[in-house]
Amino acid sequence: MKRLACSGRAARSVAILLICVAAPIASAQVAQRHVDGPRLWRTLERLSEFGRPSGSGFEGGVSRIAFSTEDLAAREYVMQLMREAGLSVRVDPAGNIFGHRDGSETLPIVLFGSHIDSVPHGGNFDGDVGSLGAIEVIRALNAQRVETRHPLEVVVWTNEEGHHFGRGLFGSGAAAGIVEPSVLERRDSDGLSIADWLRKYGQDPARFADARIKPGSLAAYIELHIEQGGRLDAEQTQIGVVQGIVGINWHTCVATGMANHAGTTPMDRRADALAAASRAILAVRDEVRAEPGRQVGTVGYATIQPGARNIIPGRVEFPVELRDLDAARIERLWSRVAARFDAIAKEEKVTIECAPLQADQPAVTDPRLMTTIREAAQQAGYSTLDLPSGAGHDAQQLSHIAPIGMIFIPSRAGISHSPHEYSSPDDVANGAEVLYRTIVLLDSRFDRR
Ligand code: HGY
Ligand code: MN
Ligand code: MN
Repeated sequence: MKRLACSGRAARSVAILLICVAAPIASAQVAQRHVDGPRLWRTLERLSEFGRPSGSGFEGGVSRIAFSTEDLAAREYVMQLMREAGLSVRVDPAGNIFGHRDGSETLPIVLFGSHIDSVPHGGNFDGDVGSLGAIEVIRALNAQRVETRHPLEVVVWTNEEGHHFGRGLFGSGAAAGIVEPSVLERRDSDGLSIADWLRKYGQDPARFADARIKPGSLAAYIELHIEQGGRLDAEQTQIGVVQGIVGINWHTCVATGMANHAGTTPMDRRADALAAASRAILAVRDEVRAEPGRQVGTVGYATIQPGARNIIPGRVEFPVELRDLDAARIERLWSRVAARFDAIAKEEKVTIECAPLQADQPAVTDPRLMTTIREAAQQAGYSTLDLPSGAGHDAQQLSHIAPIGMIFIPSRAGISHSPHEYSSPDDVANGAEVLYRTIVLLDSRFDRR
């Protein structure tokens, strides 16, 4: 069933209005939900209070950066929800939170969850829908007195966004055994290291390697998440069945010229770091656009020093992010971008040096899990669309140690990483219902011994 645009502009036309009036009757054909949508929505609203800008409401977005006091407080709330749902809660040496529910047989664990850390001034749905939706699934299984064969575990991963310390997909990467321990020594502007923050999270950094999940101990990993793009919303489709997740490549670059007097330095005697960085930033866009495909390239900020109107900038730091489903294309793009930087540096009489920060491989989802998710959605009466993920997710790290599946719900106008990020209560509940049904279907048929 398509999602009817029964609000705003679309609902003003009589024809649509009549259909919208009929919609609730039509949607009665949609199967009964097992999850409790309003209860799930209340937990989303409560979670949004941790890191909410003062004076704003649920619609005001959030800044709940990983390894912050806001994140620490939000984790306590989520662990309380897990315990109230009867889960036995543990935290691993990378700070990942797990809630365990026994199964009736000795089988690998079905793991599902997401993250609750946000980007600065982000939205209240990215990661939160999958983390709280997973706990709602446990409450619904309890209410339906469903005993699964597989043990189930709900997970909330640490530091998915990587805004702090520049190491995203951190907790899930540690679980997959692909985060180098040296990253624990990275320090933030307050001089605190990741190791210091892990201690604040009650962990011993010396045991970081113990966060690795033994390969074979997971039957599958499923993640419910908002699409963060605009396809489901534009095509009025209720559920996205994710085909794959892009690889993400991060470099931090620094253009170094010479700070000098803006008035007395002739134009042909300058080593202007900002002019060079500006050309470099546009070169990223040129090279990414130069070949057909869905690849994307972004420079998210520029830090200019000394930063005064009457001084020629001497130093500019800027990140370069490249993403694509094809790792070879990312490599090819980066080598073209680096060559352009070399040429620009020579012409502008500056240096441009780039350090690799993170490279996460693209991941494909397991076709059997795609089929299960699609079946679960269609059983519930929801429309589905297969699509790739332009956003990175913890699931791509888990793909190193288990079959993965992802369920998307629509993001209004495709907006995310913004206070305007929004998914409707109905879409959130639909996503949790599909997660519920997927877990039940998986449990009955998916024996990855
Ligand atoms: O950046 C991403 O794609 C994700 O939201 N961390
Ligand atoms: Mn996310
Ligand atoms: Mn995100």
